[in-house]
Amino acid sequence: MSVRIRPYQPEDMPSLLRIEAQAFTVDAWDRRLLQWYADTCPKLFLIAEIGARVAGYCVARPTRTGFADLDSIAVRRRYRRHGVGTRLLRAAINRLRRQGVHTLSLMVRRDNKEAIAFYHRHGFTRTRTVHGYYEDNATAWRMAARIEMPVIA
Ligand SMILES: CC(C)(COP(=O)(O)OP(=O)(O)OC[C@H]1O[C@@H](n2cnc3c(N)ncnc32)[C@H](O)[C@@H]1OP(=O)(O)O)[C@@H](O)C(=O)NCCC(=O)NCCS
Repeated sequence: MSVRIRPYQPEDMPSLLRIEAQAFTVDAWDRRLLQWYADTCPKLFLIAEIGARVAGYCVARPTRTGFADLDSIAVRRRYRRHGVGTRLLRAAINRLRRQGVHTLSLMVRRDNKEAIAFYHRHGFTRTRTVHGYYEDNATAWRMAARIEMPVIA
């Protein structure tokens, strides 16, 4: 499957709203929040395209010097387990490295087994458990990974 990663464009909004509704129930982002990210971190709001279709997206946000959060990543169900999420995450990490970010963190529902498997696969480990983090009172895991390039001697 040929996947192209590119920055978000305004025309992507309807596809992203559909992906949100499919991927998340109570936590789905609305247009206003997606637009806030598009305005605030346009270079780190990435779209995965297969043919002319939006297959997924992710958005990351630098927090303080050297640190960033992966605030969202989602892939349309029909395109999952084909490496789309990996392509998005790697593209985000490459861009963050160039900005001097060494640690990428995120929050994930403790019962989101698929996402946690995905993050483990990419080197994230749990750093904290936050009870009642979500609006429905569900528990979150904070996870983090070092993303700097290894120094080759
Ligand atoms: C998490 C998510 C973005 C992963 O995207 P994806 O395109 O399916 O991921 P990839 O195909 O790149 O998977 C890479 C690896 O992650 C792990 N993984 C991904 N999905 C998995 C699953 N359902 N079960 C177990 N391991 C999984 C596997 O190790 C996989 O490698 P493999 O397929 O060779 O075994 C996707 O499942 C998704 O959109 N979920 C709904 C939204 C969501 O929960 N986002 C995270 C919010 S914190």
